[in-house]
Amino acid sequence: MPRTGPVEEAEMPTAIVVGAQWGDEAKGKITDILAQGASMVVRYAGGSNAGHSVTSDQGLFKLHLVPSGILNPRIDCIISDGVVVDPAILVQEIDELEKRAVSTARLYVSASSHVVMPYHRTLDRVDEEKRGGRKIGTTCQGVGPAYTDKVRRIGIRMGDFTDPKAFPHALHESLTFNNLLLQKVYDSEPMDEAQILQEYTALGRRLKPFVRDTAWMVGEALAADRRVLFEGAQGTLLDIDHGTYPYVTSSHPVAGGACLGTGAGPTSIDAVIGIVKAYTSRVGAGNFPTELLDEIGAGIRERGNEYGTTTGRARRIGWLDAVALRFAMMVNGIDRLAITLLDVLSGVDEIRVCKAYRLPNGKVTERLPLRNEDLAGCEPLYETFKGWTRDISKVRRYADLPAEAREYVEGISRLTQVPVWLVSVGPHRQQTVLTGQAREGLWLRELPTAGAPALSVA
Ligand code: IMP
Repeated sequence: MPRTGPVEEAEMPTAIVVGAQWGDEAKGKITDILAQGASMVVRYAGGSNAGHSVTSDQGLFKLHLVPSGILNPRIDCIISDGVVVDPAILVQEIDELEKRAVSTARLYVSASSHVVMPYHRTLDRVDEEKRGGRKIGTTCQGVGPAYTDKVRRIGIRMGDFTDPKAFPHALHESLTFNNLLLQKVYDSEPMDEAQILQEYTALGRRLKPFVRDTAWMVGEALAADRRVLFEGAQGTLLDIDHGTYPYVTSSHPVAGGACLGTGAGPTSIDAVIGIVKAYTSRVGAGNFPTELLDEIGAGIRERGNEYGTTTGRARRIGWLDAVALRFAMMVNGIDRLAITLLDVLSGVDEIRVCKAYRLPNGKVTERLPLRNEDLAGCEPLYETFKGWTRDISKVRRYADLPAEAREYVEGISRLTQVPVWLVSVGPHRQQTVLTGQAREGLWLRELPTAGAPALSVA
């Protein structure tokens, strides 16, 4: 669809928010801030394995499926085709939001999104058990088995799930196969079709008013040059194709997933914002070259509250890895960075960033090896930055950050070759600093923050 709406030349109305690491980069906060000036926020991949924390004047919200734009009442929030939706969790989340006076009147769920059923959760758990020492460390939310059914073409889509005529047949087809899997492959009990039918028909009734053909909504918003924000879940290195396979999730967290998962054509995307945590974390199994197993890592975990929003698991912590980040810049086409949780590094004497790997054969490389086994033998080679001691959580202007913190931020920009657009120094909307160093064009520069002074460029 050609663009028809009025748009200033400098304005870039569409942006993707993408995690540049292994997830948990605080994408929710950045999405929430940008959502204040957007007209639509679209979650494009993953399921309730994600946990997005957003802090507003009303306190902390932990969202798993509902887009992080929901706290802004004037915008459309879309759960798009590429997401797998656990109806029980979505209903719970909607109820919780309504209880706290957050309107869900403009929340929409794609009729083409796939539904996570209770047997998907069971399969996720028994599959992990069966793997023994080769566990992925999944969140056990049924996400992998739901995507497996989608690709096997026996999945249940939201449109059928909420249609009382279509659902019994779709359930029968899907459960017949999955019960066989449960019994014959996993030596587990089959699940009761009549009981699921009853319980999930009721959930379908609850969700029906939210269901739309969202690809049309997104396409029409793009054609009218409305500000559309695509919200990723998880992170680049968990991508099923581009991540550290097999220790990955089952969807496409990369920026390209925003097109696949929503129906937006690639030419409609203006900006890709890479969210980079000031250090690295990883949950679940898989190689992690810069992992810190010492008290520095433990300190960062505590200060950063690095425990899973969905599972409560302690996250593994490591130094920033610019080798992995450069790969993320490339596969996502990231044109600006938002560095989050910088405040957590206050008090660390010396901060390290991995700038290259030494391979087992002694060669040094700046390219991320793409096989998990090859990553295992890599020794990280570090550049060291001087730390700072001052609390920076109240800083609002880039120039007011300690010189060491600015050097660190600029070092990340140099090592990734991407300008830093924003630095986050705490969970609240107001704890955000624009650097003035990235290309203009995103609408955030003109935004006041609710209940706080306007964000200002240094
Ligand atoms: P699954 O997505 O539950 O199948 O888990 C596959 C891998 O992705 C595991 O290592 C999980 O810990 C990881 N993972 C899934 N969702 C998230 C997330 O939101 N943040 C960080 N890691 C995640």
